[in-house]
Amino acid sequence: MTSIILDVGTGIDDALAIATAARSSSIDLVACTVVWGNVDVAQGARNTSEVLALAGRDDVPVAVGAAGPYDGRDAWYSPQVHGADGQGGHADLAFAPTLSERTAVETIVAASHAVADLELVAVGPLTNLAHALDADPTLPERIRQVTIMGGAVLRRGNVSEFAEANIHHDPEAAAKVFAAPWEVTLVGLDVTMDSIITDEMRQRLAGGDALGQRLAAMLDAYMDFYEPILGQRAAVNHDAVALGIATGLVQTTRSPLATVTVDCSDGPERGRTRAVLEMVDGAWQDEADARHRVVLEVGDGFERAMLDI
Ligand code: BDR
Repeated sequence: MTSIILDVGTGIDDALAIATAARSSSIDLVACTVVWGNVDVAQGARNTSEVLALAGRDDVPVAVGAAGPYDGRDAWYSPQVHGADGQGGHADLAFAPTLSERTAVETIVAASHAVADLELVAVGPLTNLAHALDADPTLPERIRQVTIMGGAVLRRGNVSEFAEANIHHDPEAAAKVFAAPWEVTLVGLDVTMDSIITDEMRQRLAGGDALGQRLAAMLDAYMDFYEPILGQRAAVNHDAVALGIATGLVQTTRSPLATVTVDCSDGPERGRTRAVLEMVDGAWQDEADARHRVVLEVGDGFERAMLDI
């Protein structure tokens, strides 16, 4: 059993990760903390609470976090990918969310004391984690691992030639998180772009319960965005793959240790993640004393793990 806090900015693939965590018997979902990103943080919190309710998991606290970037810049969102409501137009606007009285930072710090071997799985901008480090610099001593959906080391970005959306939203926060003394697993576009949800899988979800039907409806909208990119009726399952790797539902087959840095300039490479990777005789080498595991390949079976909802 892996105990996690899932830090989300609930768009469509965040919802898939929440649903997977909420329904998995091998995951102890301690809380969802919400960050701005795909939508504003209030909508993200509503979406998170609604997905948990559909999963029958109203017991999981939903804690609201940062409304914008770490350095005080303006927030911006991704309605072109996730819809204005973050759920492809399928959020229930009448739904009354149940939200924790604690903030995201308070939730992370309190859980780090209360829960042994706690892991953080962050699938949005890293603003909440950066603020949590400010609130308690000893936090890394009590976190077993931080898994991040973000970045692109060998591949091109998805919001610029170099940058992936979650890191590009808040490079300053990401740089702080990578510099902290904890172990990080980076699940970037290098692997998530190959983690495809097909329309056949979507239809299987549509034949399920209320949660499955909601996910299937949202995926239909998500596929409208991804179809021209992928050349098939399908979508990319970024966030649930990171969750799967964090919790052992998905195995990594190539994930060398390296030191990841983030471009915080205001130039064209803003938000780029860099890692010096060395290959010897066809095998990626671990950098001595590095703390960042860069996932470059995952094994088969992610579809089964993700959609066993
Ligand atoms: C990431 O950006 C968001 O749009 C997705 O939810 C995912 O976390 C992919 O770049």
